[in-house]
Amino acid sequence: MTATMERREFLAGALALGACSPVVPASHAQESISSEGLAAHARRSGRYFGAAIKSRQLREDPDFTAAVARECDMVVEEYELKRGTTEPMPGKYDFSGADQIIAFAQQHGMRARGHALVWYAAQPKWLEPALKLANGGGREKLMTSYIDTAMSRYAGKIAEWDVVNEALEPNNGRADGMRQNSMWMQALGEDYIDIAFHRARNADPRATLFLTDFGLEHDSPRCERRRTAMLKLLDRLKARDVPIDAIGIQGHLKPFREGFNQAVFARFLDQLRGYGLTFSVTEFDVADRGGPPNPDKRDQQIAAVAKAFLDVALDNPAMRSILCWGLSDRYSWLSNFPDYKWPDGQLSRGLPLDGDMRRKPLWDAIASAFDAAPAIGRRRA
Ligand code: XIL
Repeated sequence: MTATMERREFLAGALALGACSPVVPASHAQESISSEGLAAHARRSGRYFGAAIKSRQLREDPDFTAAVARECDMVVEEYELKRGTTEPMPGKYDFSGADQIIAFAQQHGMRARGHALVWYAAQPKWLEPALKLANGGGREKLMTSYIDTAMSRYAGKIAEWDVVNEALEPNNGRADGMRQNSMWMQALGEDYIDIAFHRARNADPRATLFLTDFGLEHDSPRCERRRTAMLKLLDRLKARDVPIDAIGIQGHLKPFREGFNQAVFARFLDQLRGYGLTFSVTEFDVADRGGPPNPDKRDQQIAAVAKAFLDVALDNPAMRSILCWGLSDRYSWLSNFPDYKWPDGQLSRGLPLDGDMRRKPLWDAIASAFDAAPAIGRRRA
């Protein structure tokens, strides 16, 4: 038994919400904002902490911008490198939003991620019809042109890229677990993944190349099928020598709908590590719809499940960074997404800072998970 396993056994096995006592102190509303940010906690464990941001927030919201500078040493574009935004007309690019985010990262000495090169969603309207009309080589070029353009533009500035996002959907009929409703799968078959990673390696050989997906976290039949599909896909990709470096576990938790089990998640991360891959939690947040109506009670439960999840994530030496999908509840996609938003219009409470930029129990959970994590070696620049 490894030291890692011993530590894990110290943790509760399965998390029963409601039954667990608070693992973190109550609200931090009074805390001085001058104390060190999550990035400092991450750094001591040899890792990074970051958030998804929008350029408009940097232009228009100084409080939020200051919070990002204080809490983060990594950023990712919430939407401004998605092709639906950057290439509204074929070959006519608009990288203005991403440029601002990357300039901000550089000014603050932050590491930057690029999200996302090849995805089934958030694509420009012209693309799918163009793919249907193109011949074999033309179809490939419609995908690789974006990889070339975006990666060469930010070479040396974006350290890691989500090359392929959300390739899996085993809960939708395909026996091989691949997502059928993807224009790339339909145009090129599974080979699209191979082509994308080879092209990305070539476009910026220094970048860390990620395959990212959701629904890998919970102890549920849905997530179990998705974990199995991921491992089987990795078997095939590795057998074909596809140059993939890392797995992005999105980490959109929904604890009031599906359970979380530390042993199940720990085992999956060990399996991923067995492929020689590193990983990150790339889009962490906690959907709180369905939780207790009392916000303080809800915050405690959100923090408890986050701590259980992050303790396992950060126990693994291959886990390199944690990024939240947003930083403050002032701006969370969860407050607008049909499946997660509250019917009465209240803000979702799934991010570490509340709508007034105050730290919540979820902030403490993230900080204490970094503090408890066995430190890994010196971080790559
Ligand atoms: C979301 C953004 O947060 C929204 O603002 C946008 O409207 C839709 O996309 N998985 C992903 C992210 O990989 O790109 C998604 O981001 C959230 C789910």
